[in-house]
Amino acid sequence: MDLIRDADIDPAPLAGKRVAILGYGNQGRAQALNLHDSGIDVVVGLRGGSGSTFEAEAAGLTTALVEDAVASAEVVMMLAPDEIHAALYNEIEPNLRNGVALGFSHGLSVRFGFVEPRSDLDVFLIAPKGPGTALRSLYAEGKGMIAVWAVEQDATGNAQGIALAYGRAIGCGRAGLIASSFAEEAEADLFNEQAVVWGAVPEVLIAGFETLVEGGVSPELAYLECVGELKLLADLIEARGIAGMREVISNTAELGALLGGRRIVDERVRARMAEVLAEVRAGRFAGELRDEESSAYARLENARRDNRQTLLEETYRRLRDAGH
Ligand SMILES: NC(=O)c1ccc[n+]([C@@H]2O[C@H](COP(=O)([O-])OP(=O)(O)OC[C@H]3O[C@@H](n4cnc5c(N)ncnc54)[C@H](OP(=O)(O)O)[C@@H]3O)[C@@H](O)[C@H]2O)c1
Repeated sequence: MDLIRDADIDPAPLAGKRVAILGYGNQGRAQALNLHDSGIDVVVGLRGGSGSTFEAEAAGLTTALVEDAVASAEVVMMLAPDEIHAALYNEIEPNLRNGVALGFSHGLSVRFGFVEPRSDLDVFLIAPKGPGTALRSLYAEGKGMIAVWAVEQDATGNAQGIALAYGRAIGCGRAGLIASSFAEEAEADLFNEQAVVWGAVPEVLIAGFETLVEGGVSPELAYLECVGELKLLADLIEARGIAGMREVISNTAELGALLGGRRIVDERVRARMAEVLAEVRAGRFAGELRDEESSAYARLENARRDNRQTLLEETYRRLRDAGH
């Protein structure tokens, strides 16, 4: 595996350069603070009247309007939501100095053409494989989060050096940087979100909970069985891998998993996974994301409201309030 760590990375390409972080959300906050603590000159670029200005300044960071932050920077990091990258890039392009580096933490907006960077720019990806909250807390503990890196455009010959130095400065070089491409990172990430961890796994938990309740089991027990044990599973997989996890559970659970797992995740599920991957690659989801933004997130808002009103959520709240 092509894993690059701190000791292999020259920090010089970023030394003395100003980095503009656009957006102070999940990733923006974490990356700005980590860069700052690594001694990098950071400015957080925010919209006029942004509620994040006070918070960023209270954390000791310099803030500026997006256009001023961009005009002052040698590295500009796009850390606003993906679906607004097209509008944001069009807004900032006139202020991007010739030959600066434009960075992303997800390959989506370049892979699917939301952003078509000017030819004089270096374009790089540093995509931490986890949420910004963990990126920040790991850095503060002296650890790091693994990240994917890539260069899409190397106009100056310095794009790779800047990408790796950036990954080092946000702490990801402590855990390792894995070489990839914008396309590979974007497609794999979107596939996982839809077909595996964030899309399919919660739906399996919900379906299991509802099946037990319909079968006469109390909601509390159904929740503890089908949802509550997920953290135990995740911890075991992290510590031992999937095969090792299976070896430490009881023979009863191991045999049940062997017989039941592949019955549920059968060839039809795999065929639908392949469909999802093909659709992702064809840009179908990228189109859905843009439509969602254009409709003021109507579908997401409706789903959020409906999700909060289910029996499963009521049960979760009851158990949580009882201290579980
Ligand atoms: N969420 C994660 O942990 C995670 C993990 C890996 C990669 N990524 C990638 O990191 C990038 C950022 O994602 P995120 O989840 O961190 O985003 P986010 O939390 O939703 O970003 C919110 C920030 O973006 C700002 N913003 C929104 N619209 C803007 C506009 N038109 N102009 C300027 N700023 C604007 C907001 O400004 P205000 O403060 O003014 O509201 C806020 O500071 C994405 O490419 C994402 O795929 C995210």
